[in-house]
Amino acid sequence: MLVHEDDVKRGDSTEVETDELEESMGPLEESGGTVSEGDGEMDDLVADDIARFEASFKNITQRYRLINRIGEGTFSTVYKAEDLLYDHYQNDWDLEANKENRDSDSSAVKQSLVRQQKPRYVAIKKIYVTSSPLRILNELELLHDLRSSPNVCPLITAFRHQDQVIAILPYFQHKDFRDYYRDFSMDEIRDYLRNLFSAVKSVHDADIIHRDIKPTNFLYSPSQRHGVLVDFGLAEREGTDYHHCQCCYEQEERARKVQSSVYARKLDAARTSNVPLPKPSYPKDDQRPSRRANRAGTRGFRAPEVLLKCTAQSCLIDIWSCGIILLTFLSKRFPFFHSADDIDAFIELSCIFGKQKMKQVAFLHGQILQTNIPSMTETGHSWEKIILWCTGRNKKSAEGPGEGLSEDEKEAINFMRACLNLHPGNRISAEECLEHPYLNRTESGSTTVAA
Ligand SMILES: Nc1ncnc2c1ncn2[C@@H]1O[C@H](COP(=O)(O)OP(=O)(O)OP(=O)(O)O)[C@@H](O)[C@H]1O
Ligand SMILES: [Mg+2]
Ligand SMILES: [Zn+2]
Repeated sequence: MLVHEDDVKRGDSTEVETDELEESMGPLEESGGTVSEGDGEMDDLVADDIARFEASFKNITQRYRLINRIGEGTFSTVYKAEDLLYDHYQNDWDLEANKENRDSDSSAVKQSLVRQQKPRYVAIKKIYVTSSPLRILNELELLHDLRSSPNVCPLITAFRHQDQVIAILPYFQHKDFRDYYRDFSMDEIRDYLRNLFSAVKSVHDADIIHRDIKPTNFLYSPSQRHGVLVDFGLAEREGTDYHHCQCCYEQEERARKVQSSVYARKLDAARTSNVPLPKPSYPKDDQRPSRRANRAGTRGFRAPEVLLKCTAQSCLIDIWSCGIILLTFLSKRFPFFHSADDIDAFIELSCIFGKQKMKQVAFLHGQILQTNIPSMTETGHSWEKIILWCTGRNKKSAEGPGEGLSEDEKEAINFMRACLNLHPGNRISAEECLEHPYLNRTESGSTTVAA
């Protein structure tokens, strides 16, 4: 991969390594909406920030005209810029221009005139210098590997000046999720999901886990009905840091292991000697090594196996996050989950799925769930009931009983249930999602025949 380096020798500024990279911003703290049309108004603070960036990054103004700041994330600031040297390079990444060239008159003069009139925009992602060099390289390498996926925003190039690295991506015109998620029709939701799962499939086909799928990392244009996945800052190759977990055993073997565990033997002993079951307790001085697992991602979008620190996580954690996006559309609530930490997030899930299922999933990854939280019932609540509650259709109005779910919604809920399967081994894959009848339905309601 080509990473441009400036000719200035690396300064002595220190590269700060940090461990606190595992959590991306919560959905409420997200960077604001991207300026949608034109160059937009810029406030003084942003203008100052841009001026500082231009002054600190050698020669950047010769290549790019910075226009606005369009995103401020946990790990980077993203700017919209005009590519001043567009015509000096081959721009295979520019699908729009390729299309224009095919569609327009083949006269070279005319084509170059069109280009001169139309500025070419890029997104400059300034990765914070506190990110570890390995992590930055990882993001750039993964983007490079995924360059031919139509629903993944490709990397054009990258530059380094001293300790600062910037990634250059095509600017993708999109709308802020908060401006459309409540108003999307069922067909629009389907279009969105087809784009999202196509992106996820190409990522998974390359054995890459994105780890941070959420609306702000999937830039979608409702008018173009096209979306691209961005932000591979937390992504990793499947199998990185893989360690054996209880969930890797076949069901029977796992059941045998569970039955012979200290905890199960204690319960059995209590039952056979007819004494009350032992009260939940914690060792005062826990000598067991703490369990370490990748917990990267965003609160509210993390799969149960991530919350349970499973050490054998797979690409299927991304499918869970896509399921949460569908839940957001159907419930018209964003963010749907809003927990302060992983324990809170686990409790939120338990209130929906119920204690029984959550105990099973905890067991699956070698953990034991004990709780006396009253709002956590044994069997939880159905998704159908939750969607009706969230959309205010559970109440019986004066005119009569509240309306039920449409057939479309019921089908969407069934699809969502397959994405939100607590057991990763039983969760639907991206490929299966794309083949699912729900995503293959045409607007008229009939299922399309796959070509
Ligand atoms: N190619 C692009 N075209 C248009 N806007 C973009 C592009 N890439 C990123 N953005 C905007 O910048 C925001 C932040 O980008 P990105 O997610 O890559 O950075 P991040 O620092 O990892 O963010 P976060 O911590 O919020 O996830 C995006 O949500 C989007 O609004
Ligand atoms: Mg992001
Ligand atoms: Zn596991």
